[in-house]
Amino acid sequence: MGHTSFGALGLFCVPHPVLTVSPSWTSPGDSVTLTCSVGPPSAGWRFFWYKAVPDMSDYYTYELLAGGTTGTEQDSYILHGQTHTAGYVCRARRGDPVFYTLYSDVKFVWSGGVNPAASFTVSPHRLQHFSIESLSLICEGNSAEWRVMKVDEDGDVSTCSDWGEMTGSTCNTNTTASSGVYWCESETQSSNAANITIHSEFIFI
Ligand SMILES: *[C@@H]1O[C@H](CO)[C@@H](O)[C@H](O)[C@H]1NC(C)=O
Ligand SMILES: *[C@@H]1O[C@H](CO)[C@@H](O)[C@H](O)[C@H]1NC(C)=O
Repeated sequence: MGHTSFGALGLFCVPHPVLTVSPSWTSPGDSVTLTCSVGPPSAGWRFFWYKAVPDMSDYYTYELLAGGTTGTEQDSYILHGQTHTAGYVCRARRGDPVFYTLYSDVKFVWSGGVNPAASFTVSPHRLQHFSIESLSLICEGNSAEWRVMKVDEDGDVSTCSDWGEMTGSTCNTNTTASSGVYWCESETQSSNAANITIHSEFIFI
């Protein structure tokens, strides 16, 4: 019975757009293309593009990208001169009366390049035997409060508090934490990002 009412609610579901970023790893000065898909029927939408600004008491707040208040007719948006790791979000609007979709999930553009205002390092460094049981993920830079972010192989976003323990600006975690992309964030800075790959015997950083 409960299931029936959930099914009925599904009919009125507000579309949840899917944002893709390409490439997701950039070098300083690269252009990055954001694409927002709403699903059919896809005509008549205007698209809105946001930067995801880290919020230490929550996940992110969304800030419209420059010139974005009227949206774009195209479902893609090019970021020129992307330098640091950053998150983006889109949503779409159409009709009169105006109807907005939900916001997409946050998608990230990662940079492996060093940002002097925010650095991310992993200890122990380099290839390690799996008998090492813990990793320290270290944030350094011009901010008082940091968090360590992770996107796993399924694209799920989480922070150190979900799988480790933040002590000052270092996150200590067991190596059983899964593989993924890791980086540091404060409210004003984002660090370089790193791939951490854990196979049964070895950790690749
Ligand atoms: C992380 O892995 C991706 C995909 O394999 C690769 O393109 C990227 O360059 C790697 N980043 C770093 C900092 O090694
Ligand atoms: C790692 O795992 C061990 C054993 O399960 C546990 O005692 C320890 O608290 C864990 N460390 C962290 C940082 O979660």
